[in-house]
Amino acid sequence: MKRIITWGLSYSDYDSQRELFSLTADGDVEVVAEVKFIPSEEEIFGRRSSVEGAFNQPHDMVVYFGVDEAEVRAELEKFGIPIEKEVLGDLGSLIGDRNSKILSDQVKVIKDLLEASDSQIADREWLFNKLGEYGFFPFFKLVKKPQTGVRYSTCGILQVPDEFVDFCLYLSKLECQKAIEVGVYKGSSSYVMAALLYRNNPDLVYEMVDIEDGLVNYDEISKLIPAIRKRIPSTSADFIGQEYDYCFIDADHSYGAVMEDYRNVGQYATKMTVFHDVFGHEYDELDGGTVRGWRELKELNKDKEIIEFSKFPDKWMGLGVIKWT
Ligand SMILES: C[S@@+](CC[C@H](N)C(=O)[O-])C[C@H]1O[C@@H](n2cnc3c(N)ncnc32)[C@H](O)[C@@H]1O
Repeated sequence: MKRIITWGLSYSDYDSQRELFSLTADGDVEVVAEVKFIPSEEEIFGRRSSVEGAFNQPHDMVVYFGVDEAEVRAELEKFGIPIEKEVLGDLGSLIGDRNSKILSDQVKVIKDLLEASDSQIADREWLFNKLGEYGFFPFFKLVKKPQTGVRYSTCGILQVPDEFVDFCLYLSKLECQKAIEVGVYKGSSSYVMAALLYRNNPDLVYEMVDIEDGLVNYDEISKLIPAIRKRIPSTSADFIGQEYDYCFIDADHSYGAVMEDYRNVGQYATKMTVFHDVFGHEYDELDGGTVRGWRELKELNKDKEIIEFSKFPDKWMGLGVIKWT
């Protein structure tokens, strides 16, 4: 547990709020006080305090936002608050240090997945612990009952931990020659899915499609999983009509784009087409978003086997599978 004083955090800076949870290995952080807040903003953490009041609280770290260290130190000097012992840093640099450690740990977890026995991969607890060590994105820390036993990091998997682990157990049984993921972001989920498929077939080709290159660790991971291929920048339109055994769609979440990704590649998949955010109502304003797309695609394919993985059914996230064979 790290007890944190935030200095200058804006309530509307949601990215920084999430990133705070990357400051420890398991996302176990507590904001004990906030100073230099913007008074007009709505309260979120509820630990507002004067500088003196804040520094009377036991704390492990002082994280500042939008100011430089000299300014913070000068202010503290005015109050006679010694800062030598404090861990003082702006969020970006503190996260940067931690992320580089997390990235090397992620490479290790991928190695572990590749070297694991089949019975380890099929053991939910083992897999959960491995993916927990690999890390999940910090916004899962903000839900009412956050998942314990997982590390939170901004390089983490952008999926609900329970959902993704159950899905991976299922995916790990798939024999696959050609796979495509449309919308890979940092590649965190891709590497895990590719590793599981690569275990079953060393000749696998796993295409990673995105309009922007945000991939982390690509060079290191491609040495371990030669199956992965960076196809950036590109969209599903560059792969129209190609047959993949496995197709994972998680790109533009508007209704029109989801349907287009389905028409371009999803419908041609031979074994499985998977959609992320099938219950992600935050995209409803995008002409019905992923939820509408999934509802219609389920109807269109009602003669096929449909499987849904969801911890927040009909509310948030969720993985929807159309099983072709
Ligand atoms: C939610 S993220 C993907 C997360 C990733 N699948 C995962 O589970 O970690 C969505 C990604 O889709 C990309 N994207 C947006 N529109 C796209 C498009 N038309 N084609 C391909 N990628 C797109 C974005 O750049 C972003 O990296």
